[in-house]
Amino acid sequence: MGNKTWLFGLSCILLAYYTYIPIPENLEEPWKVRFIDILTKIATLTATLFENTGLMKFEDLFFILMRIQNIEPFSDENLTVIDIDFSKIPVRLYLPKRKSEIQRPAVIYIHGGAFATGSFKMLPYDFVNRMTASRLDAVVVAPDYRLAPQDLFPAALEDCIVVVKFFLQDKVLEKYGVDPAHICIAGDSSGGALVGSVTQLLQDDPEYRNKIKAQAMIYPKLQAVDTWMPSYREYENGPFLSRKLGIKLSTRYLAEDEELPEAILRNEHMPEGSRDVFKFVNWSRFLPEKYKKNHVYREPVLGKLNASYPVLLDSRVSPLLVNDSQLQKLPLTYVITCEHDILRDDGLIYVTRLRNAGVPVTHEHIEDAIHGAISFVTAPMYLHSGLRIIDKYISWLQENL
Ligand SMILES: *[C@@H]1O[C@H](CO)[C@@H](O)[C@H](O)[C@H]1NC(C)=O
Ligand SMILES: *[C@@H]1O[C@H](CO)[C@@H](O)[C@H](O)[C@H]1NC(C)=O
Ligand SMILES: *[C@@H]1O[C@H](CO)[C@@H](O)[C@H](O)[C@H]1NC(C)=O
Ligand SMILES: *[C@@H]1O[C@H](CO)[C@@H](O)[C@H](O)[C@H]1NC(C)=O
Repeated sequence: MGNKTWLFGLSCILLAYYTYIPIPENLEEPWKVRFIDILTKIATLTATLFENTGLMKFEDLFFILMRIQNIEPFSDENLTVIDIDFSKIPVRLYLPKRKSEIQRPAVIYIHGGAFATGSFKMLPYDFVNRMTASRLDAVVVAPDYRLAPQDLFPAALEDCIVVVKFFLQDKVLEKYGVDPAHICIAGDSSGGALVGSVTQLLQDDPEYRNKIKAQAMIYPKLQAVDTWMPSYREYENGPFLSRKLGIKLSTRYLAEDEELPEAILRNEHMPEGSRDVFKFVNWSRFLPEKYKKNHVYREPVLGKLNASYPVLLDSRVSPLLVNDSQLQKLPLTYVITCEHDILRDDGLIYVTRLRNAGVPVTHEHIEDAIHGAISFVTAPMYLHSGLRIIDKYISWLQENL
C-alpha cells in the first residue's frame, strides 16, 4: 500500500474516532467547532507522524496550513492596502481613502500563531484589519515578525518593537495623517503576549511616553510559568487548541530543546530558585471564584529540567511576570477571554492584576467561544462567535480610541 493510501486510511479511522470526542454543549455552532477540532487533531497526528518519520518538523505542517490562507494586498473603494517595509520589517498598511479634516486614529495589529506560524497576510487577519480600518476610519499597521524555530526569543518581540518605534516617529505619523494621541496596539493569542510586552516596554521608555493610548488583547497568552491552571485542565484536549499542541508549538520560541516541551507538559520546567515569580501568576489568588471551581492549586515543580532557561523568568515572554508598580504605568486595556480556551486564565489573571493596580480595563468574557475563533471567520467556516468577537473589539475601539 502506498504512503498516501495508508495516510488516507489512517485519517479516516481517526476522523471516525475523534468524531466521538464530546464537544461542550454550550458552544455556539457546535458542529463547526467539532469540525475545526477534528481537522486540528488530524493535523496534529499527521504532524507527529511526519516528525517521527523525519519528513518535516512538527510545526512545519501548521506553518503550511496557515500559509495557504495568505492573500495578496488589494485595495477597495474605501481603503488603500499595501505591503511595505518599516525599517526592513514587512508590514501591511490599511489607509483610508476618504479625505479627513482631522488626524486619524491608528491600530497596530500583531497576529497570533504560537510564535511559529501565521502572517498578516492570512485571510482572517486581513479581514479583521480591513474591517477595523474601514469602520474606525483608522490607519492599521500589521507587522510580520520573525518566527520560531528559525528565530528564537526575542526575535519576534524585537521586530514588533522596531515596527512600533518606526511608526511612532513624528514624521511617519504625519505622513499617514495619524493622531499620536490615538494609537492602540492590539493582537490575539501569542500576538497578545507581544502586545503585552511591547506596551510594557514602551511605557518604560521615556522617549515614547504617552504615545500609546490603549492596548487590546484577544485571548492572549501571557505566561509560560504554570501550565496547570484550571483552564489548562478543563480544556486539556481542546476544542481546537489542546494543551499539548499549544505547548508544543509555542515552546519552539523559547529554546531548541526537545526536553523543554516535555517538561512544560509535566509543569516541571521552572528552574530552581524561581518560586518567587509564582506570586504573579498564582491563579488561586487572582482567578475569580467562579472559575476556580473545585480545582486545587498545585505549585509548578522546580529544578527537574537539567538545562536552566532564564527565558522562563523573562517578563518579555510572560507579561504577567511584572510587579504592580510596573503594571500601574500601563494604558487603558481591553481583554477578551473565551471560556473554551486553555489560555482563558492567563487573560483573567491579567485583568485582575491590572485592576488591582488601578489600570482601567474593559473585559469581555465570551462564554460560548473557543480559542482562535477569529481565525475561522472567513470561508469555509464563517464562525459566528469569531465575527462577534471582531465586532466587539472594533466597537470598543470606536468608543475608546
Ligand atoms: C465602504 O464604506 C461604505 C460606507 O461605510 C460601506 O457601505 C461599504 O460597504 C464599504 N466598502 C467595502 C468594500 O468595504
Ligand atoms: C498561592 O495562593 C494561595 C492562596 O492565596 C496561597 O495559599 C499560596 O501560598 C500561594 N502560593 C504561591 C506559591 O504563591
Ligand atoms: C539530566 O540529568 C540526569 C541526572 O543527572 C541524567 O540522568 C539525565 O540523562 C539528564 N538528561 C539530559 C537530557 O541531559
Ligand atoms: C518592580 O520591578 C522593577 C523592575 O524589575 C523594580 O525596579 C522595582 O523596584 C520593583 N518594584 C517593587 C515595588 O517591587
